[in-house]
Amino acid sequence: MALKPVQPRRRGVGGLIAALALLAFAGLAQADDVHAVFEADGAQQVDPDFASGSELVDRGHRLYAELNCSGCHGGMGFGTAGPKFRGNDRLDDDVYVVGQILIGPGIMPSFAELSDAQIAAVASYIRESWGNEYGELNANRVNEIRTQIAGRSD
Ligand code: HEC
Repeated sequence: MALKPVQPRRRGVGGLIAALALLAFAGLAQADDVHAVFEADGAQQVDPDFASGSELVDRGHRLYAELNCSGCHGGMGFGTAGPKFRGNDRLDDDVYVVGQILIGPGIMPSFAELSDAQIAAVASYIRESWGNEYGELNANRVNEIRTQIAGRSD
């Protein structure tokens, strides 16, 4: 009888220890990962050896650093002051992506002064990097979206 309340408690503690061990392991694995990235990253720099095989995306990669998108979204797409781009489903929506770049939500500055070709390049880069596969955008599509957004009353 006296063992009855003890047994479930011991199982509970064992389970808790196992869960904590798993969490600690997952945490360490993740910390290692991030550490490795930041070592390669030089804090928020973009990957210097980047070559995508697409001229447009490579141009976007250079702009991403020059315009300091990397300062707020992370050289490796993990985000800092701004949202992460790595695995960010919102980038699938081209109207949304171009709209955010043109408007500059919150603390993000507007980049409306960039040419359609420059916006196409940087948008293509963030949509096609870090495992993202949302597709490239060309300047014509950016122009369409720019016109659409400029004509919007809301
Ligand atoms: C000063 C920091 C800063 C800079 C520089 C900056 N952003 Fe942002 N960006 C943000 C913040 C913060 C948000 C989220 C704003 C909000 O929703 O309130 C954001 C949102 C976005 C979004 C929408 C993401 C989402 O998940 O909703 C895109 C796309 C984007 N930025 C692209 C860019 C690009 C491309 C550049 C460079 C040309 C850039 N940003 C430069 C801070 C920045």
